Amino acid sequence: MPDLRVTAPAKINLHLEVLGLRPDGFHELAMVMQTLDLADTLVMAPTADGAISLRTDAEGLPSGTDNLIVRAAEQLRQRVGLPELGAAIRLEKRIPIGAGLAGGSSDAAAALVGLNELWGCGLETADLHAIAASLGSDVPYCLEGGSRLCFGRGEILEPLPGAGTGEAPGLGVLLIKHPQASVSTPWAYGRCRELRGDFYLESEADFAQRRDALRTGPLTEALRGQGPLPRLRNDLQAVVEPEVASVREGLALLLRAEGVLAAAMSGSGPSLFALFQGFAAAEAAHRQLEAELTAAGFQAWCCRCTGSGASLLPDAPQP
Ligand code: C5P
Repeated sequence: MPDLRVTAPAKINLHLEVLGLRPDGFHELAMVMQTLDLADTLVMAPTADGAISLRTDAEGLPSGTDNLIVRAAEQLRQRVGLPELGAAIRLEKRIPIGAGLAGGSSDAAAALVGLNELWGCGLETADLHAIAASLGSDVPYCLEGGSRLCFGRGEILEPLPGAGTGEAPGLGVLLIKHPQASVSTPWAYGRCRELRGDFYLESEADFAQRRDALRTGPLTEALRGQGPLPRLRNDLQAVVEPEVASVREGLALLLRAEGVLAAAMSGSGPSLFALFQGFAAAEAAHRQLEAELTAAGFQAWCCRCTGSGASLLPDAPQP
């Protein structure tokens, strides 16, 4: 049997609004997430000895139970009550690590999708979602991908009103990341609370009002092709930007690109992205800015938006 291959796409946040603090200590969020065609690949094969092993070409990634892939595998076999299931997993890493692009969460989602198939678990999407939510706030979204509204701590998903499932906006994306910059997600949320906690919303009615505003607002209309893109909102950007010079510098660079529709930080950063009318315009902007991006030490990727999350790949052609 050939190895099973699963794609694990990166996401960006087209909107990230911190509404308030929840009783469980997480933040109540209202977000729009979008998957890109920048993706890791997981390659997996069953093992007979019940061991779950992970190999990766990426530096600085744990390969034991600190890795969400291994935790996803352990949770899945526990859920189906078959602890003797084993797998050898190889991770081909392309999504930059610790960047706010959900690389680790997407790898975990891909592990669930792949191992559910490899081990013949036969779990339904809803069962996978429950395991995904226990692994991390972004993991359920990474199972679905596409353009989605995400509420709660990020795990409550809704399709964009009026958009078909699997439809991706035709936006081109220029994504950049400074390899030396990193931001801890708990730090970013903690700092947000220090700075804005006194102004957090508190009642469910206020949360519901903000969710409705996002559902019917100019961003969702623009993603349906019914209006211009508004300025993007990421509340964590306001927290990270003053602290991380490369975020300020990268945003200023992106906003100088010809044809740029909007630019923002993704998640808790420090990756940044600019949106364009189509992939060719993103490529043109990359050519325009390439010398300056390189001089400032940024890595860059031109991407398309995609309509799906972690998914099985067709068998690789046999040599
Ligand atoms: O769920 P995940 O493990 O990705 O969250 C990482 C950290 O980010 C949490 O421990 C918490 O500090 C913060 N977080 C939050 N509210 C959310 C999601 C994450 O405060 N909705």
